[in-house]
Parts: sequence; C-alpha cells; structure tokens
Amino acid sequence: MDNFSEDEENVTNILRGMENIYVDTTSISLVDGQEGKLYYRGINVAELVAHSTFEETSWLLLNGNLPTNSELTSFKLELKTLQHTHDKIFRIISEFPLSSSPLLLLQFCLSALSSLENADNYLGQTGMERFIKVIAQTPVIVSAAYRHSLGRPFLEPRSDLGFVENFMYMFSGNFPTKKQAKCLETALVLLMDHGFNTSTFAARTVASTGANLYAVISAAAGALSGPLHGGAGEHVIQLLAEVRQFNDVKKYVHDLLSSGGKIVGMGHRIYKTSDPRAEIFKDLLFRITPEGEKNSDYLLLCQIEQEARNYFRSREKPIYSNVDFWSGAVYKRLGILPTMYSSILAVARVVGWCAHILELSEDNRLYRPRSIYKGKINQPFIPLELRGF
Ligand code: COA
Repeated sequence: MDNFSEDEENVTNILRGMENIYVDTTSISLVDGQEGKLYYRGINVAELVAHSTFEETSWLLLNGNLPTNSELTSFKLELKTLQHTHDKIFRIISEFPLSSSPLLLLQFCLSALSSLENADNYLGQTGMERFIKVIAQTPVIVSAAYRHSLGRPFLEPRSDLGFVENFMYMFSGNFPTKKQAKCLETALVLLMDHGFNTSTFAARTVASTGANLYAVISAAAGALSGPLHGGAGEHVIQLLAEVRQFNDVKKYVHDLLSSGGKIVGMGHRIYKTSDPRAEIFKDLLFRITPEGEKNSDYLLLCQIEQEARNYFRSREKPIYSNVDFWSGAVYKRLGILPTMYSSILAVARVVGWCAHILELSEDNRLYRPRSIYKGKINQPFIPLELRGF
C-alpha cells in the first residue's frame, strides 16, 4: 500500500481556516458577528470607550469585573512600578538594523525576556504580577524599537504620567494633549480583545503546552504581524497613497476587485455586518479631521468604502470595512508612522492575551488538532548518490 488514508468517513468535515470551529469556551469577550457588537466581560465596548480608561478596562479583562477605586489605584501603581525593563533589552534593540519592524523587535525582546526573567522558573504560577509586568513593559519595548527605527535616542518611562500618556511620550518624545491621549486610549480600549482571533488563538495554543509567559506572548506577537491580521492597518496607508496617485477611486476599486484582488481593511471572518470597532474608529477619524479639509484621508476612505460596498452588494457578499480600514488614518493624524501601527495593536492586545492565559490555566487541556494525511507512505529511501544532480 503506497497511499495512506485516514478514516475519512469518520471525519465529517474539514473546516479550512478553522472557520466555525469551536475549540473552547471563554468569558472574556463576545464577538457578535450577526448583530455587529463586541462585549468585554458582558459590557458593550462602545460603553467602555465612552466611560472607561485603559487601566480600568485592563483590570476588567484580567479579573472579570470593573475595579473599585482602591483596586484601580493599586493597579495603576503596579503598572508604573513594573514598567522598567532590563538595560539589555535596549542594547538588543540598538543592535538591530534601523529598518526592523517594532512589532518583530517586540517578539524578539519577549523571547529574550524569557531567559532574562528566568521565566521557566515561574511555570504554572498565575500570580498577577508577572502579567502586569508584561503589559507594562510592552509599550516601553515597542516605543524604544520605534525610536530606534527613526534613529532617535530611547526614552525612559515616566511615573508621573498615566499609561496612555506615558506610551505616547515614550515613542514620540512629546507630551500629548488631552484630546490626543483620549484618541489613542479609545483605540487601545477597542483593540484589547476579540474572541479567538488568530494571535489570541496562537497564545492559547502555546500556553496550552505549559510554555512560559514570555514564550506565549512572543508567539502571539508573531501571529499578529501578518497582513491578514494586525499588519493590515499600515497597508491601508499604502492603499490611500496608491488611490491618490491613480486619481480615480471608482476605477481603482473596480479594477482591483474584478481582478480578484482584496481591499485591505475590509472583510472579517466573524462580522457579517459592520464591525462595531470600525464604526467607532470612523467616527473618531471624522471628529479629528479638520472641517472642510479637502482630499482628507477620511473622505477618501469613505469613497473607497462606498465603491467597494457597491461592488460587494451587487455580488451579495457581506463584506464591510473592518477596524484596520480606519485605525491607520487615526494614528496618522496623531503623527505616528505606519511601521508602529501593528505595535499599537500589540500594546492593547497583550492585555487580552494575558486574560486568555489566565483563563486557560484554570482548566487547561493541550490544544492538538488533527489533519487528514494525503501523502504517500512506504516510500523507499534513495541514497544521495543515486538521486542525480
Ligand atoms: N476584499 C475583497 N474581497 C474580499 C475581501 C477583501 N478585503 N475579504 C474577503 N473577500 C472575499 C474573498 O475574495 C472571498 O471571495 P470568494 O468566496 O469569491 O473567493 C470571500 O470574500 C471570503 O474571503 P476569505 O479571505 O476566504 O475570508 P476569511 O474569512 O478567510 O478572511 C480576512 C478574513 C480578514 C482575512 C479577509 O477578509 C481579508 O483578507 N481582508 C483583508 C485583510 C484585512 O483587512 N485584515 C484585517 C482583519 S481585522
């Protein structure tokens, strides 16, 4: 027998891309793809964006409930106390080429921290401090990596600023206005968790093996870097530049889609209606775009969205703009360069990853799916000298 076949009759269906596969339960966030709603621990994110801070929302995701006043005060203090990272991390970053992506440097530095922090010695321990430490250090590392890419000196974190202001100060060197800080805080709150998205699933998969916290977060950061996931935002800025150069939105969109191309920042595996985060980002972009500004990113994105929606509607495809369609233009307004966009997502999503690791640790079982083998078996080993050139 040269071909091996799994017992395919017992395999009812292969769901490629794991579409519609349920692998576990979670009580961290609910992505309601039919209604276009997102909830963290049962609270609609729209409400959290309006009323909650980065720190409060992080506590909510990690602990399952909103913090009391004293809990919030000590959580903020812990974030400040634990934000200082090893000097070696700054040295590592400075050794890399200026062209290195801040997110991929984060992934590398997290692996390094695995050893610098003796993380394997804490295997199985779920004390909150280690989780707060990784959440607090992520903005410090990505800010240093971003400044390195710009050839600017690193800035130490400050303890007289809130989490978001401190993050903005560390990467830009400027103290943000209240409006700018609120803008980035909205983004961070919106991006903290999103069901079993690919990087969260990667985190849970690696965590299910019992790997240390830094190994888990590093794997999740790697998953986030792809253009189908966290890397989409920066490509939208490229799309805007291309459409401006082409100078005919309708034709650009139609040509791209009819030739089988994709509009980056549109479509979603779960949302079959509009992505609630996209709506909030769109509104935010509208509010921070000066009134009457001609040819603004906001107006151009609206036109691209409109043309693409017309195309999709005529083919009965439920494809809408997703969060990344709008987020990049918001960051651009804040003076942030595209190379940083996926790292901003990492600063937010690390909270969700930590919440998922904690949740999984309560009742873990190794994640280990199966595949149907389609190849040959019993093949002879041909010695190298007989294989030709
Ligand atoms: N532009 C054009 N067509 C799109 C599209 C897009 N942005 N997103 C999905 N489609 C189409 C596909 O071409 C495919 O059409 P077909 O059935 O005729 O072949 C169909 O919709 C299903 O697409 P698929 O890529 O299989 O869906 P998915 O659930 O696997 O993918 C994404 C989800 C997000 C990966 C996909 O929508 C995408 O690539 N979007 C662009 C990247 C992006 O914005 N990523 C950030 C996500 S938050």
